[in-house]
Amino acid sequence: MSNMLANLSLFQYKIMMIVYVCPFIFWQQRHIICNDLRTYFSKKDLLKMEQKIAEQFRNIYPQSSPPLIVRSPGRINIIGEHTDYNEGFVLPAAIDKAIYVAVSLRDDNEIHLYAADYDETHVVTVDTLAPSEKHWPNYILGVADQLQKRGYTIQGFNLAIDGDVPLGAGLSSSAAVECATAFALNELFGLQLPRLEMVQAAQKAEHTFAGVMCGIMDQFASMFGKKNYVIKLDCRSLDYEYVPLELNGYKILLLNTNVKHSLSSSEYNTRRQQCEQGVEWIKKYKPEVNSLRDVTMQMLDEYVLPDDQLIYTRCKYVVEEIQRLLEGCNDLQRGDIQALGKKMFRTHEGLSKEYEVSCKELDILVDAVKYEPSVVGARMMGGGFGGCTINIVKEEAIEPLVKRLSEAYTRQTELGLSAYIVQIENGTGMISVKRPG
Ligand code: GLA
Repeated sequence: MSNMLANLSLFQYKIMMIVYVCPFIFWQQRHIICNDLRTYFSKKDLLKMEQKIAEQFRNIYPQSSPPLIVRSPGRINIIGEHTDYNEGFVLPAAIDKAIYVAVSLRDDNEIHLYAADYDETHVVTVDTLAPSEKHWPNYILGVADQLQKRGYTIQGFNLAIDGDVPLGAGLSSSAAVECATAFALNELFGLQLPRLEMVQAAQKAEHTFAGVMCGIMDQFASMFGKKNYVIKLDCRSLDYEYVPLELNGYKILLLNTNVKHSLSSSEYNTRRQQCEQGVEWIKKYKPEVNSLRDVTMQMLDEYVLPDDQLIYTRCKYVVEEIQRLLEGCNDLQRGDIQALGKKMFRTHEGLSKEYEVSCKELDILVDAVKYEPSVVGARMMGGGFGGCTINIVKEEAIEPLVKRLSEAYTRQTELGLSAYIVQIENGTGMISVKRPG
């Protein structure tokens, strides 16, 4: 062999390297090379979005000074659904789909808003902030109102908003808008708010201007997300820990039912009240209990079941889900993706049959992958009644799986299926440092 190599001319040697050795190196290093390409493309996407929002801003507000641009991502949640407002744990992460907000100061007290998705404008003054019937301005105005209520002075500003988080898909586009606004106004007016206070203002804005009594998960994930990590958040103490998401050959695949969920459709708030009702009944016998976080199955059997089967079933789901998350988190830390996946299927079962926040289309998608060897876990994600399922799927099986599911889904529902492979990204941040003026 060495004799043969020695006899090769330089030309023959080069040809041999190109034909035999390069493909071998490429194959061996394919994961690294593909990851680099993905990073390269996602940087390009970011640049595109930055340019797009800057251009939209210039067109709508031609007289305005150059804007600050803030990016705030949507989120996924691995496990721990409807546990946040019960002071339990959640396991969310920020994703590579985000909302972009461009803002600059005005020299009067008017707030001018423009939403690219609706190609609509909205104008109010800083001293007349109130929920609008148009809906989309509420996520921005609600945050401005919260800042004022917390004693911060804000003046007039121009704002344009755009993004690539699919709306109503359960990926928290509304929390992303709220967090982007909070971050942008904080910068614009030099308020120096810590991230947690911006999260709390954003969550409160959802309560007051959108009428949804949401927990803290979505806003927290959008603001505190960290590339390649999920956040194990204790929704009582607000202590959190970043856990690396190492899926070893598996990917997070979101399947969008394209059924628009309407969180404010009172069902979300009803679930919250049902949980609080259960706690109130238990508290009569156990005054130390403050939320379902403190409740055991034994307490539910003794103090809730005799009074009301429905409240019992709702609370049972939550108590079990809080426990399931803790065990699922251990699975993830041990690298046991199969065990985590099984728990995701059980979560879906609970959300569908006991908490009753699923819908026909979500159930169809979860049932369709239950016996797929390439899918270790799947469940509906977020508030429910539509939006996406989250699936953990073997990377090489994704393409044929999506093709097959899309055809079957459309046949059964007459709706289109959208699929996204998500990457875990950093949370809210500024992408342009140009100061106005
Ligand atoms: C919505 C809410 C969150 C959380 C989830 C369900 O996304 O905004 O606070 O309650 O539903 O886990």
